[in-house]
Amino acid sequence: MNTPSIDLKQLLADAKETHPGAARAIDRLITLAPMFQSAARDMAGAYGETFLRRADDRVAEIDFLCNGDPEKFDEAIQAYVRFCLEFARKQAEFLKTGKYSFQDFDEMCSELYDDDEAVQSFYLFALLFSFIFSPNYYEFYDFFETEFLSHITDNGTICEVGCGHGVYLGQALSTHPKSQGVAIDISPGALEVAKRMLNFHKIASDRVDFAQDDLRKRLNRDKGMAHAIICCEVLEHLPDPQHALHELHRILRPGGTALLSAAIRMESVDHLYVFRTPEEVIEMIERAGLKLQASRVVPLAKGNMQDEEERRKLAEDPRVPVGYICRASK
Ligand SMILES: C[S@@+](CC[C@H](N)C(=O)[O-])C[C@H]1O[C@@H](n2cnc3c(N)ncnc32)[C@H](O)[C@@H]1O
Repeated sequence: MNTPSIDLKQLLADAKETHPGAARAIDRLITLAPMFQSAARDMAGAYGETFLRRADDRVAEIDFLCNGDPEKFDEAIQAYVRFCLEFARKQAEFLKTGKYSFQDFDEMCSELYDDDEAVQSFYLFALLFSFIFSPNYYEFYDFFETEFLSHITDNGTICEVGCGHGVYLGQALSTHPKSQGVAIDISPGALEVAKRMLNFHKIASDRVDFAQDDLRKRLNRDKGMAHAIICCEVLEHLPDPQHALHELHRILRPGGTALLSAAIRMESVDHLYVFRTPEEVIEMIERAGLKLQASRVVPLAKGNMQDEEERRKLAEDPRVPVGYICRASK
């Protein structure tokens, strides 16, 4: 990102008063991993006060999951650092081979999703810090807040598939107090964390149904059961994302709204399906019967992301990994 130059020391001194959670996350990150200074500077420069406000919110959630233990908080930051380094290593390999390292979903399941310790102590904390320090996750959350929450009604069931930590569902149920929630994930460890996240957001337990289920198959849900669906950062984990989209379309009620995201030519610790372009994702969404209403592409590269033309050019560069998120309707 090309961003106004930020004096991190000054930012930290000011934020300690106004946004103590954000100041804590930045301080611990650059203390434990000084090479992340530019990431913190870039995010603060690009997104300003909103970055600090959102970081405060995420830190409160993370702190709750860590039971307020500062050592656990540091371990969570270190998980994020390891996750980013693993991403960089695997992405370099992907640019050489054109393939993601995982070729088999079941192998990924036994290495990660079935391992509660890996999911709870490494994976989900890394994702939660990504919402603070990684522009693709940050912008996905921004799209969720500005383009999804205000477009859904408060009179039905919000279903999150592949909920992971449950940040999106917790927020959606807080802002839509008359709605019920369904949290679905293949990983039992993730469902436990999502349950705690919804406790943090003070969502009454009788408002949410937590279920282990598999989006590779037919979900154990009736046709049209949800008026809103959230399925973020899941499609690229599946061997057949087209099947998953048909399934999401089946459980969405007519007139309902879906929030969908996908990682494009972007490796991670658990990516399986290589999307090459945003258009490929859009085609699949439309083939499933959903209508695109709004979307955003987020190239992970240096550049002025406020300039739409520059953003579009970067998104077209086949070497640049891209995050894609959209709102679609049935
Ligand atoms: C990258 S995380 C995304 C978490 C959250 N939605 C977010 O956007 O940060 C992917 C989640 O999808 C879940 N998942 C992967 N394959 C799945 C499947 N076949 N069925 C249901 N959930 C799945 C994983 O367990 C994990 O919690």
